[in-house]
Amino acid sequence: MKTTIKNAKDYIGQDVTIGAWLANKRSSGKIAFLQLRDGTGFMQGVVVKSEVDEEIFKLAKSITQESSLYITGEITEDNRSDLGYEMQVKNIEVIQNAHDYPITPKEHGTEFLMDHRHLWLRSKKQHAVMKIRNEIIRATYEFFNHNGFTKIDPPILTASAPEGTSELFHTKYFDEDAFLSQSGQLYMEAAAMAYGKVFSFGPTFRAEKSKTRRHLIEFWMLEPEMAFTTHEESLKVQENYIAFIVNAVLENCKLELKLLNRDTSKLEKVKAPFPRITYDDAIEFLHKEGFNDIEWGDDFGAPHETAIANHYDLPVFIVNYPTKIKPFYMQPNPDNEDTVLCADLIAPEGYGEIIGGSERINDLSLLEARIEAHQLDIESYQYYLDLRKYGSVPHSGFGLGLERTIAWIAGVEHVRETSPFPRLLNRLYP
Ligand code: 4AD
Ligand code: MG
Repeated sequence: MKTTIKNAKDYIGQDVTIGAWLANKRSSGKIAFLQLRDGTGFMQGVVVKSEVDEEIFKLAKSITQESSLYITGEITEDNRSDLGYEMQVKNIEVIQNAHDYPITPKEHGTEFLMDHRHLWLRSKKQHAVMKIRNEIIRATYEFFNHNGFTKIDPPILTASAPEGTSELFHTKYFDEDAFLSQSGQLYMEAAAMAYGKVFSFGPTFRAEKSKTRRHLIEFWMLEPEMAFTTHEESLKVQENYIAFIVNAVLENCKLELKLLNRDTSKLEKVKAPFPRITYDDAIEFLHKEGFNDIEWGDDFGAPHETAIANHYDLPVFIVNYPTKIKPFYMQPNPDNEDTVLCADLIAPEGYGEIIGGSERINDLSLLEARIEAHQLDIESYQYYLDLRKYGSVPHSGFGLGLERTIAWIAGVEHVRETSPFPRLLNRLYP
């Protein structure tokens, strides 16, 4: 019977064959322990000299790291391993012998590992992070489909900028100028006027010269947009969604969280509603905490966000930022016209902003004035202005950065390990 490491749990007491790679190996005169991996998981194969043909035992002792095999044996329970079972090996067929695999069980520097990202992905920790990434993506689709959203895919090649012009990747579109999308939001607003509640989930690009543990040049963004929805209602969707994906990872990625030594007690607390603090109160709080470098009207840096987040156990919404530090499209706050109806969601434990969202301006003349004030080329926003001419409604939406969210939930220090092939400042290879 051909199966996988994951499905081998259904074959306790039976012989199976698994296509696998040799991740690691220990052996003595009488026994060899093979660490096998097949993409679905990691499992130990035990080869006992007295129970297999002489050549098989010799082969088991000589197989090199990352050689590919078909391995056959009986699946037996093993309560010492996290998996709960192992294989008593009876036969090994080597498909290809690997030589001098560069990533050995010893420690390697990050730059070396990043140069070998195509191979590093095979290691246990990276495997766990990618499985958590997959679970967050899966649960995201489940949440939004279940709640009546339609997935709409905005273009990646665009002619206009939603988030300001300084971080755009420029390219030629035949004879025209084009930019890689930094956010699909403006198109998602058009989609919301056609389908009510919509979401997009795809790559976005920021030509940002930031070299921090939170910044990628290419990252995946989830962007829901909702017609007839106030900012207040959008915040409820955000907290319910975050609680949903955290719970999904806790439920479905137990082995992975354990392998990553994630303190799950912190994740178990993540239930809606989340605390909120206004931008004004956050500034006051920071002054009390001794941050004298920040004034009303400044944007928060990573140390400020971390100080605010450390005050709470849960993700925290910072609401109503000053108009002048936010993009052109945000609806003014009726209680204070110097601020807008927006929120950033700050993850706990220093992982920073994971969501930015707002209510969008729905009045045509106000929007035109804001586009002008930001010195944007109004010609390329005509389609966006049309949405305010033909049945404009209050609407809100938000954008979540997938990699920062994974870093927080998986407890990984740097976003570069949450993307299979991260695009970083000075790194386009592999
Ligand atoms: O706050 P941002 O720039 O918001 C927008 O782009 C809105 N148009 C979204 C919307 O309302 N539809 O980006 C949203 C999120 C951030 O909170 C952060 O999690 C992530 O995207 N993000 C990055 N992640 C990794 N690397 C970067 N350079 C990022 N820039 C933003
Ligand atoms: Mg933001």
